[in-house]
Amino acid sequence: MVVKSTPKRSVRILLVGDSGVGKTSLILSLVSEEFPENVPPKAEEITIPADVTPEQVPTNIVDFSTSEQTDIELNEQIRRASVVCIVYAVDDDDSIDRITSHWMPLIRQNHPDTPCPVVLVGNKIDLVEYSTIDGIFEIMEEFSEIETCIECSAKTLKNISEMFYYAQKAVLHPTSPIYSVEKAD
Ligand code: GTP
Ligand code: MG
Repeated sequence: MVVKSTPKRSVRILLVGDSGVGKTSLILSLVSEEFPENVPPKAEEITIPADVTPEQVPTNIVDFSTSEQTDIELNEQIRRASVVCIVYAVDDDDSIDRITSHWMPLIRQNHPDTPCPVVLVGNKIDLVEYSTIDGIFEIMEEFSEIETCIECSAKTLKNISEMFYYAQKAVLHPTSPIYSVEKAD
């Protein structure tokens, strides 16, 4: 079977996640290729021109800050996003629990018709000796719109460009099944 889809002309990447997980640091590390010692609450929206992105598609990166923005603005940004990165900190279990208890339900509420692709991003890998990926795989089994996951560090720059590339790829080459086994009776 051939599945045709309209080519995407731009990608809008939104970063959400609990306060302090490192959303703003990730964006600033990507842009300046160094870890910002002093981070503002929110990064300005960034537009990356098509010719410097791996997939040749203009890409916007949007930060969200609970201290500076309202829930109404958050819902609006989630609706406008073509992919949402839920950032958690690998050393903060609460930020992992909130992926399923808060962030995924909120994203689903704001995309009632077509699921919005999600990438799970475990930041601050420089602080721990273990990986959170096994627990994250269990979450991925529960929510089919989670395209992929990645662990990274805004501080050491590990996997930073990869994380934004995965987000772009989740929009341009989604792997979500077109046929859901659960619904097939
Ligand atoms: P809010 O704007 O409050 O929602 O937080 P945020 O998610 O934007 O986090 P922010 O980028 O402000 O980072 C919070 C703290 O974590 C800062 O002190 C950062 O320096 C620190 N931080 C961010 N990324 C890393 C990382 O990869 N490793 C380490 N060790 N610290 C980090
Ligand atoms: Mg911030």
